[in-house]
Amino acid sequence: MPVPTSRKPQGGATVRIVHLTDLHVQVRPRVGELVGKRFAATANLYLLGRRRKFDPLVQRAAVQAALAQAPDVVVVTGDLTAQATDAEFKAAHHLLAPILDQVPTVIIPGNHDTYVRAAVRKDRIGQLFGAAMGKHRRLPYLVQHGDVAFLAIETCRAHLLSSGHTPKKQIDQARDLLEQAWPGGSRPFVFLIQHYPLLGRDGLPYGPPARALDNARDVLEFLSKTHEVDAVLHGHEHHGFRTMVPTAAGPIPVFDPGASGYAWLPTQNRTAHFNVYDVDRKGLHATRRYCWNGEAFVDEPGGAYESGR
Ligand SMILES: [Fe+2]
Repeated sequence: MPVPTSRKPQGGATVRIVHLTDLHVQVRPRVGELVGKRFAATANLYLLGRRRKFDPLVQRAAVQAALAQAPDVVVVTGDLTAQATDAEFKAAHHLLAPILDQVPTVIIPGNHDTYVRAAVRKDRIGQLFGAAMGKHRRLPYLVQHGDVAFLAIETCRAHLLSSGHTPKKQIDQARDLLEQAWPGGSRPFVFLIQHYPLLGRDGLPYGPPARALDNARDVLEFLSKTHEVDAVLHGHEHHGFRTMVPTAAGPIPVFDPGASGYAWLPTQNRTAHFNVYDVDRKGLHATRRYCWNGEAFVDEPGGAYESGR
C-alpha cells in the first residue's frame, strides 16, 4: 500500500522535526458542557487554580519558536486541549494555524482531547486537524515525509480515569502497515507516535495505573518483535524524560519533551519544553530540547534533558 507522502523534503536530505506536546489550550466551558468528568475538572481548573499551570503567552511563544527552527515536519503528540470542548479545539486550531499553514504537521489526540464521550462522537479534532491526522483520519496511520515516516497508534479513549488503552486490532493493523509500506526493502526512519508513555523515566512500568496506558506491555511486545521502528515519541507526562525500549533490532530511544504549554513556575520546577530531532534514512543525528526561561525558548543548558527538569 503506498504511504501518503508530502512534497517536501526530498529524499536524501536531513529532515528536521519539531516535537510539541501537551499544549493544553484552555477555555472555560459553558454550563451546558459540564458533562461527565468536566464538572470536577472545571472546578479544579477554574476554582482551585490549576489552569494557571498553563500560559497562553508561552503557548504562542512555543509555536513561534517551533517555526524559528525551520522544521520540515511538526509533530504534536496530543493534549491540544484541557477538556475537549468545541471552543478549546477552535482556540487550539487558531494557536497552531501558523504551523498548519506552513509546515507538514502530524497530530494525534491525547486523553484530554477524548475527555468525554460526547467530544469523541463530535470529532471536532478530526474536523479541524484532519489533514494532519492520516489519510483517512483514523488511527492507526502511517505517513511519510521525505526520509522519515510516522506510525501513529491510538492510546486514548473517553474514560472516567485518565488511563489509556491500545486496541489489539490497532497493534495488528500497525504491524500490517509497516510490513506493506516498503516492499522494496529500503525504508525511511520510522517514529512510533502515541500519547502515553510506554515506560516511566526509571525504565519501569509507567504509573500510577489510573493515568497510564493499561496495556503498554502489548505495545512493548509489538516493538520487541519488529525491526521497523527506530524511535518513539510521546507526551502525557508533563515533566519530560527520555528512556529506551527494546526492539528486534536493539534498543531504541523514546522521547517526551514535557508539556509545551506549561507556565513559567520555577518554584514548582515547571516550565515549557519542546524537542527538535534531525533525522535521515540512516538514523537520528541530533536531539535538542528547548526550554522556556521566563522570556524565551532557549537550548537546554548542558544538552537535552541535562537540566533534570
Ligand atoms: Fe495526557
